[in-house]
Amino acid sequence: MSRFPDTRLRRLRQSRAVRDLVRETSLEPRQLVLPLFVREGVTEPQPIGSMPGVVQHSLDSLRRAVTDAADAGVGGVMLFGVPAVRDAIGSAADDPDGILNVATAAVASEVGDALVVQTDLCLDEFTDHGHCGVLDGDGAVDNDATLERYASMALAQAQAGSQMLGLSGMMDGQVAVVRQALDDEGFTDTLLLAYAAKYASAFYGPFREAVDSQLTGDRRTYQLDPGNRREGVREALFDQDEGADIVMVKPAMAFLDVLREVRDSVEVPVWAYQVSGEYAMIEAAATNGWIDRPAAVLESLLSIRRAGADAVLTYWAAEAARWLR
Ligand code: PBG
Repeated sequence: MSRFPDTRLRRLRQSRAVRDLVRETSLEPRQLVLPLFVREGVTEPQPIGSMPGVVQHSLDSLRRAVTDAADAGVGGVMLFGVPAVRDAIGSAADDPDGILNVATAAVASEVGDALVVQTDLCLDEFTDHGHCGVLDGDGAVDNDATLERYASMALAQAQAGSQMLGLSGMMDGQVAVVRQALDDEGFTDTLLLAYAAKYASAFYGPFREAVDSQLTGDRRTYQLDPGNRREGVREALFDQDEGADIVMVKPAMAFLDVLREVRDSVEVPVWAYQVSGEYAMIEAAATNGWIDRPAAVLESLLSIRRAGADAVLTYWAAEAARWLR
């Protein structure tokens, strides 16, 4: 008999102890990954106006932030580089002396196995036009020429000590090409995190400030149309076939339906990226006293886990990890 009054659904909510016992979704520090920005040529961390509490790190402050994240129990860090000089092909990206590779080496030696050191593998921070790939004669993003740059970047990052490469450029074939390049050089243990379903989203706005993006147009010829769910699943299946160890959906909260469907469609772990705009929205509302900050942050992370993410990239990773302990 599953009807009132024989059944009372509120029985399961009567006390904290009962609620704790029947909660379906967990949120643990190890499931959080902290994105970090490191800027070439600065000695002090630089604030990012649209992301209060997030900074462009100096090499020193980056080391401290990574150690702090490890102490908090965070599962990993994802490093983004902000170079001093940019050019058409993003030369600093695969230069061993480029800021991202130097920072990776510094951090990898520091934390060892305490957490997983990951690096963003994309050209947009390094190109003077701000696109994720190199351009052809007509100014369009050249898929196959970009793949050669990604292969070279992958080797530079693996050599620097990155354990996991975050392929965020949305070029066709990027997972297969990078896997092959790594394997050919003996980097068979380097993990590939494929930003499989990455949408052309307005929620990346604050990130563009964070990396001093030079982009003037948009990324709609390579990132997904926000209206398309099936296409997101198709991308994830493609990346799994190409050898991705983990696939990602990004942004998170505006794409929870895609996240759920990808989780139900692939066998590899599925991660989600709670992006800069998602961070900025909650921070802005909290600053105005319109929302309970920790409660809103944890609820947002729980919703992403509930929708199917095995782990979440979030700018609150270290702080949320401390709340959860
Ligand atoms: C591309 C990249 C972007 C983000 C992560 N990797 C920017 C973009 O695609 O425009 C956005 C992350 C965020 O908004 O927090 N290297």
